[in-house]
Amino acid sequence: MASGMTRLVGKVAIVTGAAQGIGRAIAMRLAQEGAQVAIADINDSGAIETAHEISSTGARALGLKLDVTSLDQALAAIEKVERELGPIDILVNNAGWDKVEPFVENTPETWERVIAINFRGPLNLCKAVIPGMQARGRGKIVTISSDAGRVGSTGEAVYAGCKAGLIGFSKTLARELARYNINVNVVCPGPTDTALLRSAMAQRPGVLAAMAKAIPMRRLGQPEDLAGAVAFFASSDSDYATGQVLSISGGLTMAG
Ligand SMILES: NC(=O)c1ccc[n+]([C@@H]2O[C@H](COP(=O)([O-])OP(=O)(O)OC[C@H]3O[C@@H](n4cnc5c(N)ncnc54)[C@H](O)[C@@H]3O)[C@@H](O)[C@H]2O)c1
Repeated sequence: MASGMTRLVGKVAIVTGAAQGIGRAIAMRLAQEGAQVAIADINDSGAIETAHEISSTGARALGLKLDVTSLDQALAAIEKVERELGPIDILVNNAGWDKVEPFVENTPETWERVIAINFRGPLNLCKAVIPGMQARGRGKIVTISSDAGRVGSTGEAVYAGCKAGLIGFSKTLARELARYNINVNVVCPGPTDTALLRSAMAQRPGVLAAMAKAIPMRRLGQPEDLAGAVAFFASSDSDYATGQVLSISGGLTMAG
């Protein structure tokens, strides 16, 4: 555990899509702050690798296979994590996916996949985790949306629709769950240097450099840039903040 960072000691967290990228950095950070962390990803070998890396620092971690598009799998994953690590205090909905192309070229099959992962995925995890949080009278739900959902993003129409949907969904959950001491907040990354961004932009050379130039801080985000904001919303430091949306984008977007 990093010295001076003990906000999450005794807490149990589950982070979806944490085999790599932003989710992995979030899982590492929650563990550094003292949480036991379950890493749930469709890529089970990557999830187990992240869990091993966390365990090697002395923290307790569990890697497991989860396809967030399946409610049955979400229910089974929550049950397994609660059996092995204890009741879940923190859910981070991070798994996401996109195929970048103009909307008119999208096939309905692409929409279905984008909606299943990015929108239905968090619904499934919330459905599985909330009853236990309500019974215990505490919980933190942090959902990774995107600045695409706030301001739009060329080539990402359906994805942006899902990410905007997550904001409305989270604000509503925040209202419904406040009386149970469950906080629901949203973190919106701007362009962040991960496999997702690189594959999305593979056909558009020069776009990453142009993006970096347009960002007031003159660089793309790194996965670690997101982790502190998520740890804040996962901790008691944010006990009186709910239904909030925080962009971490080097100043590219600024909320009105
Ligand atoms: N990278 C960016 O520029 C950026 C910008 C805004 C928002 N985001 C969001 O941040 C989150 C993390 O993205 P990233 O850039 O780290 O991507 P990434 O592709 O590096 O990682 C995504 C992870 O999600 C997992 N995943 C995909 N489908 C899944 C499924 N059905 N079930 C379980 N796990 C699944 C993948 O295996 C992978 O480990 C996503 O929600 C993404 O939409 C990313």
